[in-house]
Amino acid sequence: MKEIKDDLVQLIRLALAEQTDDVRLFVARLVRKYRDGDPELVEQINLYLKSKPTRKSTALRKTTIASKETVLPRDDESRLSLLKVFKDKPDDVHPLLSTELEDTLGQLIQERKQVAKLASLGLDPTRSAIFVGKPGVGKTLTSRWLAAQLNLPLYVLDLTAVMSSLLGRSGSNIRAALDFAKSSPCILLLDEIDSIAKRRSDDSDIGELKRLVTVILQELDEWPAEGLLLAATNHPELIDPALWRRFDLKVEFELPDRKSIKEAIQHFSGQDYALLSRWADVLAFAFEGESFSDIERAIQRFRRALALGTDSDADMVEDFIKTRAINLDRQKKIEFSVLLAKQTRFSQHAISDITGVSRDTIRKHLKDDKPTEGD
Ligand SMILES: Nc1ncnc2c1ncn2[C@@H]1O[C@H](COP(=O)(O)OP(=O)(O)O)[C@@H](O)[C@H]1O
Ligand SMILES: [Mg+2]
Repeated sequence: MKEIKDDLVQLIRLALAEQTDDVRLFVARLVRKYRDGDPELVEQINLYLKSKPTRKSTALRKTTIASKETVLPRDDESRLSLLKVFKDKPDDVHPLLSTELEDTLGQLIQERKQVAKLASLGLDPTRSAIFVGKPGVGKTLTSRWLAAQLNLPLYVLDLTAVMSSLLGRSGSNIRAALDFAKSSPCILLLDEIDSIAKRRSDDSDIGELKRLVTVILQELDEWPAEGLLLAATNHPELIDPALWRRFDLKVEFELPDRKSIKEAIQHFSGQDYALLSRWADVLAFAFEGESFSDIERAIQRFRRALALGTDSDADMVEDFIKTRAINLDRQKKIEFSVLLAKQTRFSQHAISDITGVSRDTIRKHLKDDKPTEGD
C-alpha cells in the first residue's frame, strides 16, 4: 500500500507539472513493475499509452505529410538529414569480430530469427544494446552488418550532430527521429550517445538535457520488439547511470590484438596480400594499439603507392615503421629490432636507424634471444 501511495503521489506530481514525457516514462516503469502481478491492469495502462502516442515534433509533422516511408526527419534550420540510412546486403559488410563478439552477436541474430520460439516461452528478444569501444573499432560497421543479417534497414542518428543544433530543439529532433524509426521495423543506432552527457557539463540548460535523457529512457522501455535499438559510445563513463542500466546488452569492442591485427592486414590488403604478407609480422608489431580503421587507412596508402609504382614495398614499410618506432618505449624498441633482424633483410645498420637502438645492443639481444623456428 505504501508503495502504491508513493507511486500515486509521484504520478500526480508529474501530471500537474505537465511533464508529459516523465509521466509516460513513469507509467512505462509501472507497467514493468506490475507486469507479472497484475496483467489486467498492465493491459489497460498499455491501451492508454498506445491511444495517446508520443508527442510528435513540428519538424516531423511537416516532413511526414508527403510520405512517411521515404522522407527522413531533418533539423529545420540546418536541413541536414538527421538520420543516415544504410540498406546493406548481407554480403556487403564484413566486420572482423573477435570470437567473443561473434558469439554475443550471433545469439542476438538467432534471437531475432527465432522470435516465435522465444515468444512461446514468454520471452522477448534483446531489444536494446550499447556498443562500447574506441573510435574505429567497428561499432558502426557492426551495426550495419547486424541490420544486413536481419534484413532490416539501419538508421543512424548521430547525436553529436543533433546536440550541436540549437539545444532547445534537440529534444524534438531526437523525438522526430525516434518516432520515424518506430514507424517500421528497423535497427536504430544512437551514435555517440555520450554527446548528450558531454553537453551537460558545459551548458546551463540542465532541464532540457534531463528531458532528452528522459525521452531516450522512455523509448528504451517501450521500444517495439520487432526493432532493435542500438547505441554506441567511446565514453561509457559519461553515460547517465539510469540510461546505462536500461540497455538489455552491453557489448565491448576491443582494439585488435596481434592476431586480429594480422587478420586485418590480410583483410585490408586484398590481392596485394601476395606482396604484403611477408611484412605481416613486422606490420602487426607496428600497428599494436591502433584501431581497425587506422590499420585500414595505412594499408590503403601502401596499396595506392604499390599501384602507382612510386615506391618499393620494402621502402614503404621501412618509412612507415620508422614513424611508428619513435613512439615505442625502450623495451619495445629492442623487441622490435630483434624482430626486424630476424624477419627482414634490413641490415643491422638500417634497423638501428629505424628503431634508434644501437647495433651493439641489437647484436647482444639477438645472441640472448632463443632461436625460433625457421632460424
Ligand atoms: N572490426 C572491423 N572490421 C573491419 N573493418 C573495420 C572494423 N572496425 C573498423 N573498420 C573499418 O574502419 C571504418 C570505421 O569503423 P567504424 O565502424 O565507423 O568505427 P566506430 O563506429 O567504432 O568508430 C569502417 O568503415 C571499416 O572500414
Ligand atoms: Mg561510429
